[in-house]
Amino acid sequence: MAALPGDGAPAAPAGVAGASGDGIGEPYVRIAGLDKTYHSERGDVEALKAIDLDIRNGEFISVLGPSGCGKSTLLKCIAGLEDLTSGDVAIRGEPVIEPPKDTGIVFQRDVLLDWRSVLDNILLPIEFARLRTADWRGKALELLHLFELEDFADRYPWELSGGMRQRVAICRGLIRDPSLLLMDEPFGALDAITRDELNLELERMWEATHKTIVFITHSIPEAVFLSSRVVVMSRNPGRIVEILDIDLDRPRALDIRETPAFSGYVRHIREIFEGLGVMKRGQ
Ligand SMILES: Nc1ncnc2c1ncn2[C@@H]1O[C@H](COP(=O)(O)OP(=O)(O)OP(=O)(O)O)[C@@H](O)[C@H]1O
Ligand SMILES: [Mg+2]
Repeated sequence: MAALPGDGAPAAPAGVAGASGDGIGEPYVRIAGLDKTYHSERGDVEALKAIDLDIRNGEFISVLGPSGCGKSTLLKCIAGLEDLTSGDVAIRGEPVIEPPKDTGIVFQRDVLLDWRSVLDNILLPIEFARLRTADWRGKALELLHLFELEDFADRYPWELSGGMRQRVAICRGLIRDPSLLLMDEPFGALDAITRDELNLELERMWEATHKTIVFITHSIPEAVFLSSRVVVMSRNPGRIVEILDIDLDRPRALDIRETPAFSGYVRHIREIFEGLGVMKRGQ
């Protein structure tokens, strides 16, 4: 990964220091008593039940749980893309009623538009916001450089590997320099080596910018490696069963996964899933 601006020294968080939710560690997203039930012809699905969660400004928080436990639903509720059945979601004290401006989203699939170049895909949120794309080209190129894709600005998504496509999707999520980045299993479809590489890149990006990142994953080691806190969820209904602080030094290199402390966190989370019957013992 290319050198990051501000490498080594976390940048000040975006926003006005001291205002609600702007200081590092203060609640940035507040979720209180959130229920989300989907109604369909096949019956009701309680995707989320009684979710209470404060996401702190500048933290890297992962949401971990089995398929169908409501992870994507939770992310969409934070992003203002779902109606809530009951409860509240607020960002910096303001109820979320539409997609918040200062938020970037990277979806479970990269959803790049194959007929647009890499650069034009990254500039899509700028077009949606009816801003002048010419003013944002430099920023898009900077992001491409950051993710070592500077030679691919004029290529098309179908010419890229899965890992490169996912990097482009992350650049697109970052184009407006959001203070909150929501990522829904961005690396789920990648091979193990590419996934490790992107985990490292994301860790360095977070170290340099201290954006608030909400990261959804199925992978216990990925959640432990990246996060300051891990939210463990269970399904039917989707609920939070535990929130763990991950107290490992930063910056983190991949070999941290071989340390007893890291293995301890992984084992603890695995035991939660075993206890819930989501995972078989010894799996
Ligand atoms: N639009 C919808 N209409 C009806 N049911 C839905 C809808 N979206 C999600 N669900 C149901 O809500 C539950 C939670 O779905 P969600 O996509 O949030 O799970 P997830 O944890 O993200 O799963 P995965 O890990 O497989 O992506 C599931 O039972 C799913 O079938
Ligand atoms: Mg999902």
